[in-house]
Amino acid sequence: MMPVVDKPLIQYAVEEAVAAGITEMVFITGRNKRAIEDHFDKAYELEAELAMHGKEELLRVLREVIPAHINCIYIRQIQPLGLGHAVLCAKPVVQNEPFAVILADDLIDGDIPIVKQMVDVFEQQQCSILGVQNVPRDQTSQYGIVSSVPLAEYLEQVNGIVEKPKPEEAPTTLAVVGRYILTPRIFHHLEKMHAGAGGEIQLTDGLAALMQEEKMLAYRFKGTRYDCGSKLGYLKAMVALGLKHPEVRDEFATYLQSLK
Ligand code: G1P
Repeated sequence: MMPVVDKPLIQYAVEEAVAAGITEMVFITGRNKRAIEDHFDKAYELEAELAMHGKEELLRVLREVIPAHINCIYIRQIQPLGLGHAVLCAKPVVQNEPFAVILADDLIDGDIPIVKQMVDVFEQQQCSILGVQNVPRDQTSQYGIVSSVPLAEYLEQVNGIVEKPKPEEAPTTLAVVGRYILTPRIFHHLEKMHAGAGGEIQLTDGLAALMQEEKMLAYRFKGTRYDCGSKLGYLKAMVALGLKHPEVRDEFATYLQSLK
């Protein structure tokens, strides 16, 4: 729920999914995350209040939080057993369909929303796709790192993945960053998983098993990623998106200039 400029990170994630044509949103939440459900709920009292006072613009913004055709489903992950386990929690809803995973603290700003780029690739390739970018070698221990063979300018065939390798052990510096399109076969592998790196059920381990039986691609998305789970990444996101926001960008740019 951390805001970047004027909306919470989860809102950016939902807008990215909506832009890709996704209509069913499954939120895997945990203890103390009820604010997410409240955020996407219909705010009857507030809408009535704004309407009564003729605050049309605010009313419009409020109604755009979640378009009417979107269905939101909330699932609680009772224990924080890892990303792989969180994804597995969505199985009863997703069932036998391909689906996208968005890690909302990876905010990715692109002219074409990143999940839309990946859905377009999926439509051609019909296999699991991992959103990737190169990271500095001293940061490999923060990511799932893939080994791959180039197929096209932005596309690689994945033949290995390892969770958070030390820089000296990382096979490459190509990191998975918070966007996945997965085939439902991943659930079969996640169900069999035991805790991996860091004592958690890792999505990475499920992916390693899945790629043994299905083609898997890495897609170098076109966009800038901000790791909002880190202080510096969050600050960068705020500055970059603030400088794009039509309401504040000019004054904000002048302010930033004045700091030099
Ligand atoms: C998770 C995944 C990791 C991936 C990363 C992207 O790690 O386990 O493979 O590279 O997200 O942000 P986390 O950041 O949750 O530790």
